Amino acid sequence: MMHDDNRVKIVCVVGARPNFMKIAPIISQMQRQESRLMPYLVHTGQHYDNEMKHSFFEQLGIPEPDVDLGVGSGSHAVQTAEVMRRFEPVLDEQQPAAILVVGDVNSTIACALVAVKKGVPVIHVEAGLRSFDRTMPEEINRILTDQISDYLFTTERAAADNLTREGIGGERVQFVGNVMIDTLLNNLKRATPFDKTLAKYVKDQTLYRDGFGLLTMHRPSNVDDGVVLERLLTAVGKISHDLPILFPVHPRTAAKIEQFGLQSLFNAVRIQQLPPLGYLDLLGIMAEAKLVLTDSGGIQEETTALGVPCITLRENTERPITVDEGTNTIVGTDAQRIVDVAYEVITHGGKRGCVPEYWDGRAAERIVAFLEQRFAGQV
Ligand code: UD1
Repeated sequence: MMHDDNRVKIVCVVGARPNFMKIAPIISQMQRQESRLMPYLVHTGQHYDNEMKHSFFEQLGIPEPDVDLGVGSGSHAVQTAEVMRRFEPVLDEQQPAAILVVGDVNSTIACALVAVKKGVPVIHVEAGLRSFDRTMPEEINRILTDQISDYLFTTERAAADNLTREGIGGERVQFVGNVMIDTLLNNLKRATPFDKTLAKYVKDQTLYRDGFGLLTMHRPSNVDDGVVLERLLTAVGKISHDLPILFPVHPRTAAKIEQFGLQSLFNAVRIQQLPPLGYLDLLGIMAEAKLVLTDSGGIQEETTALGVPCITLRENTERPITVDEGTNTIVGTDAQRIVDVAYEVITHGGKRGCVPEYWDGRAAERIVAFLEQRFAGQV
C-alpha cells in the first residue's frame, strides 16, 4: 500500500531479546534516505526488563517502537493469545503492505498468524531452520511461521532443503545470509572491553586475565528440570577449575536456581554469576572467551562468526552450519561428555572453523533490496 510520502509501510515485529539484534540492521536499511520502505515498529513486550530490552534498543540504535503492546510473561498459550489480541487492532489501523517477523519466539508466530488471516503478506527472516525436536517451543513456532509466510529469507543453504520438504519453495525463498551477524560485524569495534564489564561486577579480576570461559543457559529443557540444571552446573563447576567461567544469568534461570535451591553449587567453584548483559558487554566478553558453553541459538552463530569455540549444551541444533563449517560442537547434557569436550578445547584450542557463506554483514541489505523490488517496484 502506498503512503503519502510514496513509501511502502512494513510493520516490523520484535518481542524478545534475540529479535532485537535481528531487526536492527533491517530497520536501519529501511530508514536509508533513498529507501522506498517505511518501517513501523511493533514491540510486543514479551521481554520487558531493562536488561532484556532497553539496553538493546539504545546500544543497537533501534528507534523507539511505534507501539509497545506490553504483553509481558505468561504461559505459552496466554502469551501467544495476548500478543494476537493486542496486535490485531494495530494491524487494522496501520494497513501495512506486509508484516516482517524475525526468528522463532512466541511473538513471531502470534503476529504472523494474525496477519495471514487478514490477508496481509508475512515476511519471515531466519526461515527454514529445523532442530527436528518438536519438544522445543521454538521448533513449533518455526514450522508454523514458515507455513504461513509469503516471503522467507534464510541464513544457511540447508534451510531451503528443509522448506522444500515441507512444500515451500520457489522465488519466495531467498538465501540472504545472517542479519544477526550483520549486527555483530557492525558493532564489534564498539564492543565493551571485557575488563571494563568485569570491573563493574567483580572485585578481583586477576583471575580472568589468563583466560576465561562464558556460560549462558536458559532453555526450558535445561533449566526447568532441577536434576538437569544441577547436573549442568556441576559439570561447568568442574570445568571452572581449569578455566574460570563468567555466567550472565537469564531471569528464567535465576528463578530456577533459586527455586531448586542450587545457589550452593557456586560456593567452591570459579563461576562468576552476572546479571543479564547488554549486547555490547556480552559481545566484548564473547569475543575474548577461550570457550563458550551455551544453549542459545544466536550464540552458536555469533561464536562461529568470531572464531571462538562453542560447546552447545543441547542434543541438537537447528543451525547445522555452525557445526559443519563453524566452531560449534553439540555435546548434549551428559556431564562427563561436557567436561571431556571442554578439557579438549582448553588444552588444544578447539575448532577454528570458517565463516559461512553470506555471513558478511550484508544480509539486511539483500533483504531490503528484495522487498523494495517486490513491494515498491512501481515507485
Ligand atoms: C524467549 C524465547 C526463546 C529465546 C529467549 C531469549 C519463546 C518461546 N522463547 O524465552 O526462544 O531464546 O526468549 O531470552 O518465545 N522474564 C523476566 N524479564 C523479562 C522477560 C522474561 O524476568 O524481560 C522472565 C519471566 O519470569 C518469564 C521468563 O523469564 O516468565 C521467561 O520469559 P519468556 O519470554 O516466556 O521466555 P524466555 O525463556 O525468555
